[in-house]
Amino acid sequence: MKKIIHLSDLHLGYVKQDLVSRFNVIVNNIIAKCMPASQFVVVITGDIVNDATQTENYELAAKYLNKLEAAGFSVLVVPGNHDYGTGSLGYKKFVPIFKECFYGDPQIVYPKLDVIGTIAFIGLDSMAEELHWYDRLFAEGEIGNIQLTQLDKLLGNPEVKECQKRVVYFHHHPFDPLPFHELKDSENLGNTLKKHGNVDALLYGHNHEGRKHEVWGIIRCYDAGSSTRKKDMPSVHRIIDLFQNIDADVDEDFEFMTV
Ligand SMILES: [Fe+2]
Ligand SMILES: [Fe+2]
Repeated sequence: MKKIIHLSDLHLGYVKQDLVSRFNVIVNNIIAKCMPASQFVVVITGDIVNDATQTENYELAAKYLNKLEAAGFSVLVVPGNHDYGTGSLGYKKFVPIFKECFYGDPQIVYPKLDVIGTIAFIGLDSMAEELHWYDRLFAEGEIGNIQLTQLDKLLGNPEVKECQKRVVYFHHHPFDPLPFHELKDSENLGNTLKKHGNVDALLYGHNHEGRKHEVWGIIRCYDAGSSTRKKDMPSVHRIIDLFQNIDADVDEDFEFMTV
């Protein structure tokens, strides 16, 4: 049964700290510790780069994600506010560039469904409705009705229902909203998830706090913090086994562990 390694908010390219060196250690330790790699799915819930306007940051991030894939890990990503601009100002032009860089396909649409083993992974773009001229400022998120309608259909889709487990992952924190950071349509997302009642884990980031919640009937609602500890915020590299009791989920630290 596949396990999930949840990472988030890498902010690669942040100029005030060497987060790249930290991520290099994290990637090397994941490869050394988690074997066989084919039994792990690495889910990265956005803010992969710190500033998309610095074009070299995408290539830098892709290099490390490709290294994980080359080692045999499945790697799933979704964009955060920093992946489409500076973090407080987003640009639509980065949407296809992000897709091309991280999925190899600029046409891919969200929700993005990947069935890996017996788990259905559904990725959402929580920046989808935050790139209009009138609301592209600040760090808020909005999934939008188009994606939520598709999410509703997907959760009722036989291919998804027949999977043993279902994971929904996105960037913006749906609870504990910080001013100008909140997911605006969190309530609509919650209503969609509650309607089906079949989601086993919600994975997200954005707030850099690393907390756990149990909301909307979902026992695993996990914020991964900032995996590279941007501004020394909490980092939790959780290893999640949906086929075990929740107590078996591990708060790992791949930066400081000795292999
Ligand atoms: Fe972040
Ligand atoms: Fe963010």
